[in-house]
Amino acid sequence: MNRPAFVLWFTGLSGAGKSTLAEAVARELERRGVNHEVLDGDVVRENLSKGLSFSKDDRDINVRRIGWVARTLARHGCIAICAAISPYRAIRDEIRAASDAFVEVYIQVTLDVAEGRDVKGLYARARAGEIPNFTGIDDPYEEPLTPEIVCSTADQTVEQSAAHVIAECVRLGHLS
Ligand code: ADX
Repeated sequence: MNRPAFVLWFTGLSGAGKSTLAEAVARELERRGVNHEVLDGDVVRENLSKGLSFSKDDRDINVRRIGWVARTLARHGCIAICAAISPYRAIRDEIRAASDAFVEVYIQVTLDVAEGRDVKGLYARARAGEIPNFTGIDDPYEEPLTPEIVCSTADQTVEQSAAHVIAECVRLGHLS
């Protein structure tokens, strides 16, 4: 079986653009007729991880679940596009080690930019003390040290970032 399949893991702050970029990459894979699935943190938390909090332990459980589903999908020839904050380096690296092929995409934005966007209004609520343990405010985000791909969504359009991700996947030999 020689099908292109790997885990494409987007990590970054809330509001960095992970979900938007994951969907844009998914559209391009769809256009190319490549089997894929998106595992989005918000959606996973409504289903597979319903009831989990944002404590470190629960985030680790959530992220490990996403990783398990992703590598299972990848084993069956499906590119698993994951978009979760996944703030802890050790857990991301654990998923990398357990996956046959893993591509980490760091969606790099400053806290100022993510907070300035505040698409869901959550940063304002976190600043007001209404949401404790909010990533980047009073909870850590550990940047990847050697991600395969870095996207700076502050100075690229979604289309440019998606094209960059696809081009890098091709360069890395995961896509033709
Ligand atoms: S993760 O840390 O477990 O990887 P995940 O990606 O699933 O997080 O969910 C993050 C989303 O949950 C954010 O985009 C935001 O909409 C929402 N959210 C609610 N509370 C928090 C919080 N304390 N920290 C970060 N995101 C939160």
